[in-house]
Amino acid sequence: MALLIRGGTVVNADRSFRADVLVDGGTIQAVGENLDAPAGAEVVDAGGAYVMPGGIDPHTHLEMPFMGTVAVEDFFSGTSSALAGGTTMIIDFCIPGPGRSLTDGLDDWQSWAQKACADYSFHVAITEWTERTSQQMAEVVDRGVTSFKHFMAYKGALMVDDEILFHSFSRCRDLGALPMVHAENGDAVFLLQQQLLDRGITGPEGHALSRPPHVEAEAANRAIMIAQTVGSPLYVVHTSCREAHEAIARARASGLRVYGEPLIQHLVLDESVYWSPDWEFAASRVMSPPFRSKEHQKSLWDGLLAGSLQVVATDHCAFTIQQKKGGLDNFTKIPNGTGGLEERLKCLWHFGVNTGRLTPNEFVAASSANCAQIFGLYPRKGVVQAGSDADLVVWDPKASGTISVKTHHSKMDTNVFEGIRVEGMPAVTVANGKVVWRNGQLDVQRGAGRMIQRKPGSSATEAQAKVNERTRPEGVRRMVSTQQTP
Ligand code: URP
Ligand code: ZN
Ligand code: ZN
Repeated sequence: MALLIRGGTVVNADRSFRADVLVDGGTIQAVGENLDAPAGAEVVDAGGAYVMPGGIDPHTHLEMPFMGTVAVEDFFSGTSSALAGGTTMIIDFCIPGPGRSLTDGLDDWQSWAQKACADYSFHVAITEWTERTSQQMAEVVDRGVTSFKHFMAYKGALMVDDEILFHSFSRCRDLGALPMVHAENGDAVFLLQQQLLDRGITGPEGHALSRPPHVEAEAANRAIMIAQTVGSPLYVVHTSCREAHEAIARARASGLRVYGEPLIQHLVLDESVYWSPDWEFAASRVMSPPFRSKEHQKSLWDGLLAGSLQVVATDHCAFTIQQKKGGLDNFTKIPNGTGGLEERLKCLWHFGVNTGRLTPNEFVAASSANCAQIFGLYPRKGVVQAGSDADLVVWDPKASGTISVKTHHSKMDTNVFEGIRVEGMPAVTVANGKVVWRNGQLDVQRGAGRMIQRKPGSSATEAQAKVNERTRPEGVRRMVSTQQTP
């Protein structure tokens, strides 16, 4: 059935304008003034509201086996929560389990994702390096997954060393894929954890103390230098501190194609939570990197404005209090992860747009358009224009509410944003042309989400290839010999 969103202001990353939006068959058919509603069309009144591309969260861990347990948010509850918050697509991390190859892992994640009610894609994690890894990276790319994640932390589990980073970044470069890093020096974290435990520090504050900003900054700098060495672009996930942000800003200022992703948690919440006398409160906020001080928050906001950081994500990785209690006597055993899928847009609007840190267009860039561009989804996603997928959010800038575990749609029994009052809420969410959220009610269908295939060789990786051709030894040699040829 056709759908006409009437009377709103369309907000894209580049501009805002008054227009109606006509949708049919899952696609935006027209964007313009005074559009007629086709016979039988459903009409949504967007008067006084903004009509924006649905949010895209490129960093989630739904149903992920991790630290001896499994993240409680599944693909149905996770994507339902996302839609309730105005996010219409996620990119989840496929992390092949022990003994599972990259393509086995992708099979596992794809089978779990069948229940999703919003569109999704994957990044695949590289946790070892063999001939088969290199070969299967090409198969993964053929299956529409064009980004690969590397954990520089979680020693003894997911962590990879510099040799693997070198091999894998090089392979990404050759495949036109985008390498990503979780930047923390895992050896340093491990040693700091042992020292803290030896001193009798076993509570959640030990988590923050064992992962200081410079541990993140060292890894971010190292990954950037390895990317420069092999000539690949790089995406740094959950950039949480000033020093790591500065490494990315410096890299970009010196001509390197490096992207940085702050999380909404790091933009809004600070490290004081880990010193709460309430263990459950503190443990439910344990994630890596940990929340930082206000100085770091300011740097991240500044980076969004400056363009040195591009995408705001959540790293949604949900554990219940019962699961967190696995680390009751030892902070290193608290499963790392917090939520935010439903709250990301509300918090980014409230703390970003309402404070003047971001314009509404910059909000769209950070929550949707930049992500679509970096990960090869644009303009299918990330923009309100004819021909794009009908994934939309009608945003009421005057609506307000208080975030609470009592009203969220996640399976989590805590909410890190508990009690925060926000102004600016999703009034209506449209996914694949259907209204799935309106008047505070979800109307979702299990399995309605589709896996979105992405193509290698985005404009960014193609640009990087040209830079390599110009500046790397093989390319330079070719240029010199061409010049010598009469
Ligand atoms: O604490 C976190 N971030 N948990 C999820 C796994 C990761 O490091 O991204
Ligand atoms: Zn991570
Ligand atoms: Zn993560």
